[in-house]
Parts: sequence; C-alpha cells; structure tokens
Amino acid sequence: MSKEPTFDIAVIGSGPGGYVAAIKAAQLGFKTALIEKSKHLGGTCLNIGCIPSKALLHSTEMYHFAAHGADAHGIDLTNLSINIEKLMAKKDKVVGQLCGGVAQLMKANKVTVFNGLGSIKSNSRIEVTGRKGEDTVTARHIIIATGSTSVELPFLPFDGETVVSSTEALAFDKVPEKMVVVGAGAIGLELGSVWSRLGAQVDIIEFLPVIAPTFDKDVSKLAERVFKKQGMQFHLSTKVTGISKKSGKNILTAENKKGEVVEFECDKVLVAVGRKPHTESLGLAAVGIETDDQGRIPVDKHFKTSADGIYAIGDVIAGPMLAHKAEEEGVACVERIAGQAGHVNYDVIPNVIYTEPEISSVGLTQAAAKDQGLDVKVGKFNFMANGRAIAMDATEGFAKVIADKETDRILGVQIIGKGSSEMIASAVAHMEYGGSAEDLGRTIHAHPTISEAVKEAALAVDGKAIHSV
Ligand code: NAI
Repeated sequence: MSKEPTFDIAVIGSGPGGYVAAIKAAQLGFKTALIEKSKHLGGTCLNIGCIPSKALLHSTEMYHFAAHGADAHGIDLTNLSINIEKLMAKKDKVVGQLCGGVAQLMKANKVTVFNGLGSIKSNSRIEVTGRKGEDTVTARHIIIATGSTSVELPFLPFDGETVVSSTEALAFDKVPEKMVVVGAGAIGLELGSVWSRLGAQVDIIEFLPVIAPTFDKDVSKLAERVFKKQGMQFHLSTKVTGISKKSGKNILTAENKKGEVVEFECDKVLVAVGRKPHTESLGLAAVGIETDDQGRIPVDKHFKTSADGIYAIGDVIAGPMLAHKAEEEGVACVERIAGQAGHVNYDVIPNVIYTEPEISSVGLTQAAAKDQGLDVKVGKFNFMANGRAIAMDATEGFAKVIADKETDRILGVQIIGKGSSEMIASAVAHMEYGGSAEDLGRTIHAHPTISEAVKEAALAVDGKAIHSV
C-alpha cells in the first residue's frame, strides 16, 4: 500500500509567488513545504531584482540630488564623492535583511523549507537535490512558482563580464565609463538610471520608436525628455546586430531606422529585452506538462496545470511578470485548493518603473481603450500646477485618468512624476471597486500633496479641474 503524502502542499520556488503561497497555505491549516534551490529565500525579486534595484535607485537618486539639485535649495555639498563598495554593501544589507525576514516568516508559519533543486517525479512526489544530498518530498498538491530568467539575444550572448543581464548590472564593482543598455523597458530604464547617475555614459538602444512602450505615448515622451536631460541617450527604432573587438575595445553594432550601421564603444552592455519562464530541470515531462510556444506553463483559471494536483503561478504562467501579480496568484491558488473563492483581478494590476520621475499605471492605456473600440474621456493634470510639487522641485509629471464616456467608470490611470508608485495605489483601489472618475474627483486628498494631481486629473475628465486655466 502506498504511503500517504507527508505534506498537503509543496511549493517549488521561494520568490514572492512561492513564499506568499506557502504562508497562505500554512494560514489555512495546510501542512506545507517550500523548496528552494538557492541558499537564500526570496527568489529573483528579493535577491537580484526588485529589492536590490530599489536600494541602488534610492542611493543614487540621493547622490544625483546632492550633485545636481541640492544647490538650488541653498545646500552646499562641495567635494561630493561616491564610494561604490559602501553603496553595494548597503544594498546587500537590505537584501540580507529581507531574505532573513522570509526565513523567519517560514519558521513562524511552520513551513518546512527544503534547500535544493526540486524535480517533479510524479503528481505527488518531488526529488530535492541539495548540497547535503537528496530528499524526497511528497505532497497532495504541488505549486510550481519557479519564476523567470533573463532573455538572451543570440547575437549578443551573455558572458557575465561585458555582456550582462540585470543580475551582474546590480553588482558592478566600479562605474563603467561607457555602458550600452539594450531595451528601454523597466530594467533598462531603472539600471540605466542607476549607472548614469553615478557618472557612466549610458546609451539605451530600443527596438521600438518609444521608450517604456507599455505606457501611453504622452507618458513615454515626457519620460524620454526628462531622462535625456538627466544624461541618458536614446537610440530608438534601432536594432542591435552584434558585438566585436576593435583595437582592444568592445564595439557594439546596431542598425538605425534609416538602415545605417551605428557603432557604440562600450565597456558594459546590459541586455534587458525581457524575461522568460524558468522551467529547466523541473521535470515537467514526467507528469506530461507541455509548455506553450513562449515556454509558459498553461493553466486554467484556478491555476491547475494539465497534471492532476499540480498548479503553477507567477512568471512561469501567462500574464505580466510582476512580483505582486505572482503574490496574488499564490494566495488565490491556495484558496482554491482549500475550496474557497480565490480570485485575481487582472484588470487592475499596477505597473511601475521606479525611475525619477516614477512611471506608474493601472488598467487600460488610452491607446488600448481605443484599440478595444471603447468610447473614452480623458482628464489630465500637470504637476506644474500642484503646490507641493512646486515646493519640492518636482514639477515634471502629470496624472491622467481614462474613463468610459457613458458610465464614467475609470478604465485606466497613468501617472508620471515623483512618488507616483505610491499614488497609483488609490487609483487601483477605486478601480477595484468599480469607481467612477467623479468618485475619485470627489475623494478628499490631503493638501498639499502631489496626489492632489490625481484627484484633479479625475475632475478634468469632465473639464472640472480646479487648479487649471
Ligand atoms: P520589458 O519587457 O519591460 O522591456 C524590454 C524592452 O526591450 C522593450 O521596450 C522591448 O521593445 C525592447 N526590446 C526587445 N528586444 C529588443 C532588441 N533586440 N533590441 C532592442 N530592444 C529590444 O523587459 P525588461 O525590462 O527586461 O524586464 C523584464 C520583466 O521584468 C518585465 O516583465 C518587467 O515588467 C519586469 N520588471 C519589472 C520591474 C518593475 O516592476 N519595476 C522592474 C524590472 C523588471
């Protein structure tokens, strides 16, 4: 007679999707295991993604302000210098604190952590190969949360030294003199900003005619203008073709929109052209799971794969590769296993690029609404007319509310400007409850705050913004 599985739920991967699923499972009374191949919990987000990049962005933003903004406030900071070793140590400390926090959470919730590479052998059995040998984990339900890895360009393979992914670009030991970034999405703009603020000459090459292409064109245009002023150079509608050495120097070649060959001398190339699902060594074939044409694991709306008792969440399935999307899926997946009504509202997933100014959105862009044939009305409010923004020297930005013309229901909000990553949350909440532009416009916002620009943009949907001429 076969033995009963040891665990109710085993989660493979300890990123925000996996570790949150494990906590939720424990909260619902399931005996839970978490399997992680790295010796640190937290996955890409905590170790080599969201968290270290935000630490570097914060440190370098302060440095940039000290070097270029402080003087206007009467703050004299002559003889300013930067200590890269200390800057990186600060980032590592932040990462260490948060990874340790996840380990503590596992302990507090009585989740058993297995350190090793998990490989699925059957619908209820996972072999874990770790530094200390092999373990077998048996569970009634398996949740795959193995995340994603950087996409490599065939003509520009990663070498870990010159051509690198975000992992290495978070840990350079000195400021590159000339850095080329391929891709003007979230990673390219964030890490391009970090190294540009520290003094690198940063050239960003983007295949499309705009930067930050998932946002509306007016947002992308303002971002491009501000980032150019900060010192980054953009080469749009440009295709990278390869890299070679000439007289000991790295030369990256590309083709611009006129079909001309352009060359970039560089000492670092960051390739940031997207991420792909990470399913290697997972043993999907053993349980008959086939990935789709983009390497993703197909699931139904309750995160069930084609194999009985096996679920998948986060970057390995379809949808935006965002930590908060993975977290929500982890919670909903476990709730479904428990027979509850777990659900993710994919229409209101915020998206943020943490540059300065920050770029944030939720819901449909104006362009997407148009593509869907929706009749919309749009309100916009410029930070130039916001008292707090003026006081803070943060006037470059605007908020934009897109609402249904007939019902006034908010369809999307985009905010470019200081602190917009925090401000987008109230727009998300309004949309979650099916709020109208008038609801948002009538919601009291503290004065003086930059968030009043969002309220004003909502009022502007019907031409009723107060501080607008
Ligand atoms: P991305 O998909 O955000 O941007 C990639 C950019 O590269 C796009 O603009 C694309 O047009 C361009 N591109 C693609 N192929 C190219 C080529 N051959 N030459 C030039 N340009 C090319 O991908 P990214 O920035 O690598 O980020 C990966 C994932 O991680 C995304 O899903 C992103 O949302 C997520 N992420 C989110 C962050 C955040 O929430 N702040 C931060 C970092 C990453």
